[in-house]
Amino acid sequence: MTQAGTEQAPLHIAIVGSGPSGFYACEALLKSDLYINITMLERLPVPYGLVRSGVSPDHPKLKQAIQVYARIAQSPRFHLLANVTVGRDISVAELSETHHAVIFAYGAESDRKLGIPGEDLNGSHTATEFVGWYNGHPDYRDRVFDLSSETAVIIGQGNVAADVARILAKSVDELKHTDIAEHALDTLAESKIRDIYVVGRRGPAQVKFTPKELREFEDLELCQPVIGDSELQLNPASEAELADKQNSGQRKIVDQLKKLAAIGNSGKPRNCHFTFLKSPQRLLGTGHLEKVVFEINRLGGEPMQQSATGTGETLELNTGILFRSIGYRGMPMPGLPFDDRKGLIPNTAGRITENDTPLAGLYVTGWIKRGPTGIIGTNRADSVATVQSLLEDLESRDTGINKSGADGVCKLLQSRNVRYVSFEEWEKIDQSEIDRGQAKGKPREKYTRINEMLEFLG
Ligand SMILES: Cc1cc2nc3c(=O)[nH]c(=O)nc-3n(C[C@H](O)[C@H](O)[C@H](O)COP(=O)(O)OP(=O)(O)OC[C@H]3O[C@@H](n4cnc5c(N)ncnc54)[C@H](O)[C@@H]3O)c2cc1C
Ligand SMILES: NC(=O)c1ccc[n+]([C@@H]2O[C@H](COP(=O)([O-])OP(=O)(O)OC[C@H]3O[C@@H](n4cnc5c(N)ncnc54)[C@H](OP(=O)(O)O)[C@@H]3O)[C@@H](O)[C@H]2O)c1
Repeated sequence: MTQAGTEQAPLHIAIVGSGPSGFYACEALLKSDLYINITMLERLPVPYGLVRSGVSPDHPKLKQAIQVYARIAQSPRFHLLANVTVGRDISVAELSETHHAVIFAYGAESDRKLGIPGEDLNGSHTATEFVGWYNGHPDYRDRVFDLSSETAVIIGQGNVAADVARILAKSVDELKHTDIAEHALDTLAESKIRDIYVVGRRGPAQVKFTPKELREFEDLELCQPVIGDSELQLNPASEAELADKQNSGQRKIVDQLKKLAAIGNSGKPRNCHFTFLKSPQRLLGTGHLEKVVFEINRLGGEPMQQSATGTGETLELNTGILFRSIGYRGMPMPGLPFDDRKGLIPNTAGRITENDTPLAGLYVTGWIKRGPTGIIGTNRADSVATVQSLLEDLESRDTGINKSGADGVCKLLQSRNVRYVSFEEWEKIDQSEIDRGQAKGKPREKYTRINEMLEFLG
């Protein structure tokens, strides 16, 4: 058997995606006893995935993960090729030809659908678009959000919904020293929104917020939380859920909701209403969203497995803007199997499978492996597990040594006139963004268009 993995004959491994799961896979590979060169491919000219373009601008501490990734990238065995879309600029087969193994870590960039009439009316947006827009993601740079309605509705009660509500609720003063994109701050400054409704299909005992995110609604400058007295009444199965010692985290969340409910009217001009047991049934409007019709739900089923069913009773809410924050969804990659029902790449312990059979040399990690849940840190253990599978497989696989790695990919990209961006070039963009931000008292002012980034690099 020929085995690569020494300085003279390194292993070449490609990682597709430069978000947390890609960088944690890279870290685990670099820590192994084998000599491994890594080619990381990223479709944007800038790295770090949702840490750059998802994590809320007013949560700078959470963005510190970037410093860990930047340290990993200093390894001489690490090569970033950004501004390269795998599946378009280079194929999965070409990555397999040039590398001993490929790890797919390309996240979940699309959204789940509500599947209701009117979902695509003007004024009905996904949280993904809004979050990408205020975080300066080039895909969403030119989206238009009309904030002239007095009421905004957010469907879903996870932490992304909490982020969206908080950004709508905050004053310009609360946001202007964050790395929020300038175009978003300018639009938010003109916002007429006074009432924000964060609507869940199940009850308070089933929300997916975390207490820390809810606590932030206690003392916003312009906005008070509103939770009606009857909203926090629980059915017996929910009481049983909260009494379960294994579920103490959820109990803390409900306690935090009670704390918000107790705040009452403090005379602030904006209100953030948390309301439960309602599913949007249809969105109405002539050309533009005007009204949401909700169906009132009841919970049924055993504790911890309760689901919502409609009662037939409806409730209407006038609004000009709605955000669907009901979860992200993975997209297929040309040349790889895809589980369309779950929106992820089928795998066993990170080994990509087709009809339950592992495909040699192809691995997956992060949101595209397990679905769109989990915080930044969750991806570390996930990527370590995938890399462990990869290293185990190498013991019984004839890897051969003739792989060209990053050099081979660069040659292919040059022949196709693809302008790839190296990590050193990203560092120049990074420094320039920091400099642009300094003048405004912001940690950075992001470049928000791909051509601006490439023009800056020259
Ligand atoms: C709005 C939002 C806010 C969040 N806030 C927090 C928070 O505050 N704290 C926290 O701990 N967690 C937070 N999370 C969760 C956290 O961001 C995720 O757990 C994590 O980013 C998932 O990592 P990933 O590497 O799998 O995917 P991603 O971070 O999405 O990275 C995937 C990367 O792959 C690239 N890519 C996609 N397609 C291709 C292709 N074809 N070729 C090459 N590259 C490609 C993408 O551009 C992206 O850079 C948040 C999530 C969201 C959606
Ligand atoms: N600060 C942070 O740490 C932070 C910030 C943002 C995101 N994140 C993480 O990123 C991950 C993704 O967050 P997320 O908010 O997108 O997803 P999420 O936590 O899975 O929440 C999705 C929400 O949408 C609801 N929902 C799903 N389908 C629905 C439908 N058809 N109709 C109505 N409601 C529906 C869910 O309700 P059901 O429970 O009834 O399905 C749930 O309330 C999470 O793990 C989150 O913790 C973390």
